[in-house]
Amino acid sequence: MQPPLLTNKTALITGATTGLGYATAEALARLGATVVLVSRDPHRGEEARRALAESTGSPRLEVLQADLASLDSIRRLSARFLDRHPHLDMLINNAGTLEPRRRLSTDGIEMMLAVNLVAPFVLSTLLLDRLRLSAPARIVNLSSQSQAHASLDLDDLQFERRQYSMWPAYGQSKLGLTLFTNELARRVDGSGLTANSLHPGVMASNLGRRSGVVGMVWAVASRFMSSPRAAARYVTYLASSPRVAETNGAYFDQARRIRPNPIAEDPVAGAELWEVLEKLARVPAAALVRTSVGVS
Ligand SMILES: NC(=O)c1ccc[n+]([C@@H]2O[C@H](COP(=O)([O-])OP(=O)(O)OC[C@H]3O[C@@H](n4cnc5c(N)ncnc54)[C@H](OP(=O)(O)O)[C@@H]3O)[C@@H](O)[C@H]2O)c1
Repeated sequence: MQPPLLTNKTALITGATTGLGYATAEALARLGATVVLVSRDPHRGEEARRALAESTGSPRLEVLQADLASLDSIRRLSARFLDRHPHLDMLINNAGTLEPRRRLSTDGIEMMLAVNLVAPFVLSTLLLDRLRLSAPARIVNLSSQSQAHASLDLDDLQFERRQYSMWPAYGQSKLGLTLFTNELARRVDGSGLTANSLHPGVMASNLGRRSGVVGMVWAVASRFMSSPRAAARYVTYLASSPRVAETNGAYFDQARRIRPNPIAEDPVAGAELWEVLEKLARVPAAALVRTSVGVS
């Protein structure tokens, strides 16, 4: 089925200079959307914008710089977006990172937790009013099938008391993202805004291009992976298809809706995670969401 034209719709995509974010920006720009590309490096952002303008012919592409491992930077990103754009129809929290060794963000938060979970939490809540005013609007969060077998330790999200290991920490950040998405979906239900999460498939992107063993394994495995462009179809579907216009709080494996890890569907865990994220993010996001949608 042909996707709908998205003229007069605005999308904000994080991690839009490479991989899936770039491919999704291209797909949405081809459909006529105004696409705001979030890039941590302004030069690479501008290069991506130029390349996308050439490949899609779209004049409606813009770059905003932000380091999603910095709470201040996310706040400035949100303020600049709100200043320039009266509407936000699609927020795509795509940026993600895979960290072989434990390191901390500028705010002292374990890096995968900061970029893969805290950043989508903060950006979504800061932009929530604009999304709600633009309703029907959608949030799409890029999760991963690695959430399926992950565990979530709300008392030690940052691996301070446990031995850090890349895949368990990555899986936890994605399980947390899926759980946060479902909690947000509950809080905005009925407002015309939806929030869903997606495993896009395993793609040959920059995600695993690291030095050492991780990089070597990734390079070999990449030959058997699909392309970010193929995976971008699933993001575009969830962000724009009329077939999923009413779908809220769901997890998709590519185009198929499936049940995620049971923890991701636990409302008690969702409320607890929300509180932990509020503390880490130092924003009164619960209050913001409650005021926005009238949840008491
Ligand atoms: N590749 C897979 O097989 C796979 C499978 C399941 C889920 N996913 C998820 O899909 C999403 C896209 O991944 P991808 O495969 O396209 O990976 P990618 O090529 O590595 O792209 C990740 C993007 O995130 C950006 N990013 C990372 N840290 C950032 C920060 N601190 N501030 C701002 N931007 C930051 C990167 O920017 P820079 O270019 O500046 O580094 C890059 O543009 C991720 O959430 C990933 O976890 C991927």
